[in-house]
Amino acid sequence: MADLPFRPRRLRTTPAIRAMVRENHLRAVDLIYPIFIVPGQQIRKPVVSMPGVSQLSIDQAIEVCQHAYDLGVGGVILFGIPDHKDAAGSESFAEQGILQQAIHAIKAAVPDLYLIADVCMCEYTDHAHCGILVDGQVDNDRTLSVLQRIAVSYADAGIDMVAPSGMMDGMVRHIRLGLDAKGYTQIPIMSYAIKYASAFYGPFRDAAENTPSSGDRRGYQMDPANRREAIKEAEQDILEGADILMVKPGLPYLDIVRDLRNHTNRPTAVYNVSGEYAMIKAAAMNGWIDEQGTVLEMLLGFKRAGADMILTYHALDAARWLQG
Ligand code: PBG
Repeated sequence: MADLPFRPRRLRTTPAIRAMVRENHLRAVDLIYPIFIVPGQQIRKPVVSMPGVSQLSIDQAIEVCQHAYDLGVGGVILFGIPDHKDAAGSESFAEQGILQQAIHAIKAAVPDLYLIADVCMCEYTDHAHCGILVDGQVDNDRTLSVLQRIAVSYADAGIDMVAPSGMMDGMVRHIRLGLDAKGYTQIPIMSYAIKYASAFYGPFRDAAENTPSSGDRRGYQMDPANRREAIKEAEQDILEGADILMVKPGLPYLDIVRDLRNHTNRPTAVYNVSGEYAMIKAAAMNGWIDEQGTVLEMLLGFKRAGADMILTYHALDAARWLQG
C-alpha cells in the first residue's frame, strides 16, 4: 500500500459525499432566455444557424414565456426585429414599436415572469450599426439620447430591467438619468459592460438581421486581446450606476468573468452567445458530443468562473434537464 498523506479520492467515493463537497451549483433561476420578436401573428420562423431557436410573433412569444416561467428560469431578455428600419432607428423608441407592444402583452399574460429588454439600435437601423452614423462612424453622444429614449419607452411599456448592449461611452449614465427623471428609479440596468468585437455573434446576426452593411463594430466593441481594459470598462459602468455587469461572449472570456468577480462587488452576468450555442448544437446533431452533458458542464463552468446569471439559448432545455 502506498504511504500517502492525503487521498483526494476519499471525497469522491459516493454520490452522497460528492454532493456534500460540491462547490458550485447550477439552478434554473440562474438562467436568462433570449427571445427574438417579430411583427405578425402565428409566426415561428426558425433561425437556421441556431437549431431550436425561432423568431416569434408576440402571440407565440407569450406561449414561450409562459413555458419559461413554468420551468422556473430567472427571466427572459427580449430583442425586437422591426418591419421597418431607417438610418435613425426610429422604430426602436416608437410607442407602438415591436418591442413596446411585446413587453406590454407579455407583462399582461405572464405578469410574474422577469422581463429584460436589450437596449440597442442595431436591430432598428438600416445600416445595422449600434448608433447614429455621422460620416460613416457611430456618433457616441448623439446615440446616447436615443438610447435614453428607448429605455424610457420600454419602461413605459412595463419592462422590469433594461440591458444596454451598444458599448457607447456614457450609456449607463444617460439611461439612468432618463429613467430616474420619469420616476423609474426602481428599474435596474444590466450593462453589457464588457462586450468584445467577436466572431461568435455570427448566428445572432441571422436571428436579429443586423449585420452591418459596411464596416464592423470594432470602433465600439472591445478588442479580444484586452484584459485590463475590461476592468476599466466595469469600473466606469459602476460609477455610472450599473446594477449588474455583463461579460460577452462567454466561453472564450471566462478569465474576464473571474476578474470581474474578484475586482467588483456587483452581480455578474455572462452571455453564452449564439456562436457558442451553434457549435454545441452542430456537434450534438452530428452525434459527436452529448448535448445535455456538454451544456450542463459549460453552464456550471460559468458559475464556477464567477457568474451569478447566464444568458443562454440553452436556458429552457437546461431548466428541463435540471428538473429531471
Ligand atoms: C447587439 C447585440 C448582439 C448580441 C446581443 N446584442 C450582436 C452584436 O453585437 O453584433 C449578440 C448575441 C449573440 O450572439 O448571441 N445589440
